[in-house]
Amino acid sequence: MNQPDPKQLADRPWLDPDAQPQLLIDGVCKSFPGVTAVDAVSLQIYRGEMFALVGSSGCGKTTLLRMLAGFTQPTAGRISIDGVVMNAVPPHQRPVNMMFQSYALFPHMTVEHNVGYGLRRLPLEAAERQQRIQAALDMVQLGALGKRRPHQLSGGQRQRVALARALIRRPKVLLLDEPLSALDKKLREQTQFELMNIQYRVGTTFVFVTHDQDEAMALATRIAVMDHGRVIQVGTPAEIYEFPRTRFIADFIGTTNFFEGTVTAAADGCIRVHCTEAGGELQVEDRGAVRVGQRVWVALRPEKIRLAKQQPEGERLNCLKGVVAELGYLGSRSTYRVRTPTGKVLTVLGKNEQRTSEWSIDWSDEVFLSWNANAAIVLQS
Ligand SMILES: Nc1ncnc2c1ncn2[C@@H]1O[C@H](COP(=O)(O)OP(=O)(O)OP(=O)(O)O)[C@@H](O)[C@H]1O
Ligand SMILES: [Mg+2]
Repeated sequence: MNQPDPKQLADRPWLDPDAQPQLLIDGVCKSFPGVTAVDAVSLQIYRGEMFALVGSSGCGKTTLLRMLAGFTQPTAGRISIDGVVMNAVPPHQRPVNMMFQSYALFPHMTVEHNVGYGLRRLPLEAAERQQRIQAALDMVQLGALGKRRPHQLSGGQRQRVALARALIRRPKVLLLDEPLSALDKKLREQTQFELMNIQYRVGTTFVFVTHDQDEAMALATRIAVMDHGRVIQVGTPAEIYEFPRTRFIADFIGTTNFFEGTVTAAADGCIRVHCTEAGGELQVEDRGAVRVGQRVWVALRPEKIRLAKQQPEGERLNCLKGVVAELGYLGSRSTYRVRTPTGKVLTVLGKNEQRTSEWSIDWSDEVFLSWNANAAIVLQS
């Protein structure tokens, strides 16, 4: 057996069978009258992770965070941090802090006072209190703005004040519920990088909820996808994107084209799937999970499809003819909606490499779509 690379295990402790999770969530449930908000969730989160919880509205993300923070009691299951069971520990005694979905700063208080609020119950000397406030502000690069009030800051700066306030008690685990949702797209992207830098510098474990799948992909060490209170897949962003376990996940994270079909053959490392919507058989790399005769879905990401005006030479498998029905110009890329002879419309993402080009593909052009056997995956549900 191959020895795992120690450097890789340091970056990916979840692959190390000897690593102890910092946060252990074991069979946690929460029922409210008439609804199971969190249903037997088990997760192991490691020190220094930036762990994302994603899923549609109402799937239980906030409820799970509230149980980690101690504001809500689980109906069943166990939560431990560094080996200590937290279920009976009140919120203010947990080594955890939570930044809420709507982080209200106190409008009448200066930035310094807002940040120092978290220390109000601690018996600190004035000098030490001030020093900790300054350190927290420096950490989020707001050291010079301590005397301002919230209305004198930009949205991104306010966000960072809230973060400094949440970090000042030096929690082992910081829970962030939609931390960047109040920001516009540009500022959100910028603040994402800052959040990553801050997390890297303080080394605190972050568990964050987001509605924005791009944000989860950009920030997270790992992502847990939730649906109706359950965790349905946990993996690195690349694992979730490349190998979603179900159609729900493939569709929730990014865009996917699906062909429903039946497995007809398996040979030479590939399987054949007969898909009526593709007008015949598709060839997909055989990952050993399905058998001949089984009903499956072939899932194909838009950027893995090649688009050409001429029919590609050679292999005719995984090659469909179509007509461009819609075209969306996105600057560096374009999305094409291509209608194939069966009526099936595929989404294709193409890079715009030339500024203007006589070769460029336009609305109502006839095109050929092709992809490699390892570009698609097969899903069973
Ligand atoms: N205190 C409560 N009493 C009763 N039901 C609740 C309570 N809190 C949450 N729920 C229900 O539990 C489910 C999960 O809610 P939760 O707030 O955890 O969802 P969420 O994933 O955070 O959603 P969103 O993305 O909209 O914030 C929902 O059906 C919600 O209505
Ligand atoms: Mg929520």
